[in-house]
Amino acid sequence: MTMQEKINELLKLRETARLGGGEKRIEKQHAQGKFTARERILMFLDEGSFEEFDMFVTHRCTNFGLEKEKYLSDGVVTGYGTVEGRLVFVYSQDFTTFGGSLSETVSNKICKVLDQAMKMGAPVIGFNDSGGARIQEGVNSLAGYSEIFQRNILASGVIPQISAIFGPCAGGAVYSPALTDFIMMVKNISYMFVTGPKVVKTVTNEDVTVEDLGGASVHSTKSGVAHFAVDNEEIGIAQIRKLLSYIPSNNMEEPPFRTTKDPINRLEDALNQIIPDNPNKPYDVKDVILSIVDDAEFFEIHENYAKNIMVGFARFNGMSVGIVANQPKYLAGVLDINSSRKGARFIRFCDAFNIPLVTLVDVPGFLPGTQQEYGALILHGAKLLYAFGEATVPKVTVILRKNYGGAYCVMSSKHLRGDINYAWPTAEIAVMGEKGAVEILMGRETAAIEDKEKQAEFIAEKEAEYRDAFANPYIAAKYGYIDDVIEPRNTRFRVIRALESLKNKRLENPAKKHDNLPL
Ligand code: HXC
Repeated sequence: MTMQEKINELLKLRETARLGGGEKRIEKQHAQGKFTARERILMFLDEGSFEEFDMFVTHRCTNFGLEKEKYLSDGVVTGYGTVEGRLVFVYSQDFTTFGGSLSETVSNKICKVLDQAMKMGAPVIGFNDSGGARIQEGVNSLAGYSEIFQRNILASGVIPQISAIFGPCAGGAVYSPALTDFIMMVKNISYMFVTGPKVVKTVTNEDVTVEDLGGASVHSTKSGVAHFAVDNEEIGIAQIRKLLSYIPSNNMEEPPFRTTKDPINRLEDALNQIIPDNPNKPYDVKDVILSIVDDAEFFEIHENYAKNIMVGFARFNGMSVGIVANQPKYLAGVLDINSSRKGARFIRFCDAFNIPLVTLVDVPGFLPGTQQEYGALILHGAKLLYAFGEATVPKVTVILRKNYGGAYCVMSSKHLRGDINYAWPTAEIAVMGEKGAVEILMGRETAAIEDKEKQAEFIAEKEAEYRDAFANPYIAAKYGYIDDVIEPRNTRFRVIRALESLKNKRLENPAKKHDNLPL
């Protein structure tokens, strides 16, 4: 062969590889509203930046006549490129080739990407679209999954790992995404479950559809498995690019800085009126967040799950931060099992990746009841407590209104190494609300009053007394548990100043093999 012929052969092989499982299957993929593995990568990365690995890999299986059916790339497209000029590694399961199923060689390709990403300290984004273990390969496929899991575990907290579920993801295959930092699903197209509807029917006699068992809406609202549910892949891909803009490439780097024209000393007069006079009336904490962060941009995580707490990324004077805020609009912002898990997971991500935490507090306490207690609220609440307490990143807290009981301790209090803790004049910091306190402290006195009207008057009087004495920030301020009581409209400026002062914070936890987070 001449050199030109050899080059032509290479180009032809590349063309064949790019067709994956062939045009018919690509058409089927498109007809289902899905892009192909390569299209996804090209849409995701900066234009012209994709460098592909292992295009010529084929499987080695000889079971069930599989040796006669081989496709270049074998079910996954892998490599690296850039997002806004920053290095990222990618793998994208190719449903047109054996249903994107995982063979020994597919696993090798994914592991190569994970190993390389660890060496280079760069994020990994995996596009999942697969029928699971390649059935013909038996235990080799299971071994392949396990090799990926092991790498996901070792990479956790070292490089960001993001899973985009753009098709099926079932059986043990779900555990690789579950080990990563963020999961995104596409509404009405992708699904995730450990066992599918047929097995569910056999074992529990339950009739359930794929969508109701493991669709995007289920996982983004009920289970919390998915952090994002998007309408289509294009929106999802844009979201992942945006997510990356807030986070560093690895645990040794600082998050990217983005300059802003938003003045640091912008006053927000509306905040001086945002807290209703009636303490039982809600308001939307998102309004507070949007008015204090740069350019009113808040990238929310878990938007539709455990809405009583809001978490997400934003910037203050260009610095990326993680925001954790109780949301009085939902369940009065109470802490329950789901909100504790959601908050803890987010805080631990931020802490692992050097992203400062800004916490906005308005919480009446933990949710009472058998459902919560039987579900181990004690342990889940402890997760949130643990996450705040172990975090060594800069921690700035602003108490907006209620901060009662155990929730006071948990929500990034001074005692959990909160660096700068502010309160608005509307803050109420006490062991419990006036109703509970008067019931417990004045029970005997109240019972002694026979006249019901007089009894009610007495209770109201005592409750007012308790509120006057405790429902304010000045007792905590007196002890130095909060550093200052600030005017709400100054919050942006004060938080930015606090964060600037904490830029060189150095704090280490005691050396240990690993912690023992309550699970
Ligand atoms: C080999 C597979 C495959 C698999 C699909 N294909 N899944 N090949 N191993 N696991 C092939 C099909 O034979 C078909 O080949 C092509 O991919 C497309 O599949 P279809 O069934 O035509 O597609 P669709 O109708 O869209 O259905 C998608 C599906 C279905 C729901 C995912 O394919 C399916 O149920 N697959 C099997 C799922 C499964 O049970 N996997 C094993 C789970 S156990 P042709 O040649 O016709 O294009 C597991 C354990 C992991 O994963 C444990 C890790 C610890």
